[in-house]
Amino acid sequence: MDRAGFAAARRKAGAVPICCVSPDNLADTLSRLGRTQESWAKANRFSARSGDILILPAAGGKMAGVLFGGGAPGGDAFGSGKLPRALPAATYAVSGDCADPFAFAMGWGLGAYRFSDYVKGAKNCGSPRLVVPPALRRSDLERQIEGVFLARDLINLPANDLGPGELEARCRSLAKAHGARIGVTKGDALLKKNFPMIHAVGRASDRAPRLIDMTWGKAGAAKVTLVGKGVCFDTGGLNLKPGKSMALMKKDMGGAAHVLGLAAMIMSAGLKVRLRVLIPAVDNNVSANAYRPGDILRSRRGLSVEIGNTDAEGRLVLADALTLGDEEAPDLLINMATLTGAARVALGPDLPPFFTDDDALADAIAAHAVSANDPLWRLPFWPAYDRWLESKIADVNHITDSGFAGSMTAALFLRRFVRQTKRFVHFDIFGWCPREKPSCVVGGEAQGIRALYGLIAERYGA
Ligand code: BES
Ligand code: MG
Ligand code: ZN
Repeated sequence: MDRAGFAAARRKAGAVPICCVSPDNLADTLSRLGRTQESWAKANRFSARSGDILILPAAGGKMAGVLFGGGAPGGDAFGSGKLPRALPAATYAVSGDCADPFAFAMGWGLGAYRFSDYVKGAKNCGSPRLVVPPALRRSDLERQIEGVFLARDLINLPANDLGPGELEARCRSLAKAHGARIGVTKGDALLKKNFPMIHAVGRASDRAPRLIDMTWGKAGAAKVTLVGKGVCFDTGGLNLKPGKSMALMKKDMGGAAHVLGLAAMIMSAGLKVRLRVLIPAVDNNVSANAYRPGDILRSRRGLSVEIGNTDAEGRLVLADALTLGDEEAPDLLINMATLTGAARVALGPDLPPFFTDDDALADAIAAHAVSANDPLWRLPFWPAYDRWLESKIADVNHITDSGFAGSMTAALFLRRFVRQTKRFVHFDIFGWCPREKPSCVVGGEAQGIRALYGLIAERYGA
């Protein structure tokens, strides 16, 4: 894939060398480069701190090479992500050793991302390319980066250009590209087909609510089902969000974007699963027919749900989608959602919590999060808090009145709609990079899907 900024191995001959240096081997490296480069590096006070970049000049205004500070262990594994944004357009190749060549290339690819659909002329400027050595399996790198870019693109698209209909169109083109089947239940058909809560949340928008249902793979293979929150814009509904809280709510379809990115990885790798992707796609809007606080909704599962706050809309549309997913008791049921602000209060924007009752699965997810440099942190389905969801006038309340442990109580609400599936895991993601870092500019970000791809590939095999 072009956007990752990779070049084929055969281009290595003419490539500009990138030399990874640490403070420990800096003196050695400089003396090997010769007097001129050594004094250039010293004049520029290059000290090989993590992320430091120095271009070495050659005669005739060319580049002789690049020094890149790998820094001490414990630094950013994807520090190389700065390079494609900092270096001039040319072909580059790592020369000599670098601590983790796969992470170097992954960081490069992730860091090469730009969302430039709306910027005039941005597409025409050249970009730096990295030669990927054959041992690194460029196709697998590209597959993962492509999945991440798909998720970022969908999140970054503004809500005026990505409503439930446009999200459906994106799903259709992904399905087409991989030979997946897709069905969509839309508008009043949601009532006929028994998705009352998706309808109730989404009916206040002039962009009809829908449930997107995509399947791929052999019927007999292990069933892996991905559910993603597709709230294309979350105003909060009648419990309207204040301006500051609403500002970023184009990203409230981040769960959908994540599961589509993950699905793209799984399908392009041809993993041996029967994949299903369920996306309730809605706007949470204000209108005369909007659902209200105090309403009691009937859910697909049959439970009546007392509405405490129309801004807790995600768990409602997900509950109906999870009920459908659970009906065939898949081997693994994964839910991803920008579900609560409370998850960010607990763990900050870069460390999404996940919830599962399966300890072995939790350990495997945590291990893949570490090896993929894709941070995730387990939180419990704390059983005692489940009672907080009790309602006096309905089977369940969708929020609690305490304000405590908001990410956990949202997770506990979702769990009530999963009855038959053995392995259920829910991710409360942020889906946004609020501060530029090497592997990501400010904007949409994919969290956990590289780790999950690693897990699913390991479990079900290619
Ligand atoms: N989409 C939001 C959650 C959100 C907010 C995610 C900010 C990421 C960043 C969700 O629909 C919501 O509004 N949740 C409420 C729930 C509350 C009303 C119980 C929240 O978190 O405040
Ligand atoms: Mg909300
Ligand atoms: Zn929301």
